Amino acid sequence: MSGMTASHDAAGAGGAIAQKAKVIQPAWVRVVHWINAVAMIMMIMSGWQIYNASPIFNFTFPTTITLGGWLGGALLWHFAAMWLLVFNGLVYVIAGFLTGRFRRKLLPISPSGVIDDTKAALAGKLSHDDLSTYNNVQKLLYVGVILAGVVVVMSGLSMWKPVQFQELTAVFGGYDSARVVHFCAMAAIVSFLVIHIVLAVLVPKSLRAMIIGR
Ligand code: HEM
Repeated sequence: MSGMTASHDAAGAGGAIAQKAKVIQPAWVRVVHWINAVAMIMMIMSGWQIYNASPIFNFTFPTTITLGGWLGGALLWHFAAMWLLVFNGLVYVIAGFLTGRFRRKLLPISPSGVIDDTKAALAGKLSHDDLSTYNNVQKLLYVGVILAGVVVVMSGLSMWKPVQFQELTAVFGGYDSARVVHFCAMAAIVSFLVIHIVLAVLVPKSLRAMIIGR
């Protein structure tokens, strides 16, 4: 009887390990990822409305893809979503370092690995069998978008409080160039998002793993 219990326990433990091993995206990553997605979309759409009030380039964004209705409304959205984006981003970055996730999942990235994986992707030969390991191109894009997130927040802060954060504003070369940097970082994030969403839809089970973990 005790032998049966022991083997039952062993089977139970084995099952639990197998169950744990199957987790591709831990719960904390999924929660911060989706909060980030909502916050980013609010920031981008309200940012486009703010830009439209005083465009830096020779175009404006169609109002149907903007948020806030007018400059004042868009600023309220932008400054509200900013708290969500920054606090959630801090949780992700701090936990990413403390849990060792950044080191395990996003490093190392080798130039030859990026070239090889790009060639394989273009030839349609890049394997997506193991979703728990990122390829070199993925790692580069993820590290790139995290850095673009840091630049967008820093340049945003330098425009939000240019007197209190004057040293930061100076790092960006003043208010007007901080606007250009902020716009370029947004453009990099939006370009990432286009590729990211297409791949999330195309690569089997990747979206599911970011929703239910497995
Ligand atoms: C709103 C639509 C979005 C969808 C459908 C989506 C989907 C996904 C999926 C399926 C994964 C896991 C894919 C994989 O195995 O590589 C993932 C990971 C990731 N996504 Fe997104 N995502 C979205 C928005 C965003 C945004 C706005 C950002 C940042 C600007 C972002 C940044 C990331 C990063 C950095 C990872 C890797 C996370 C880690 O492993 O620590 N995503 N996303």
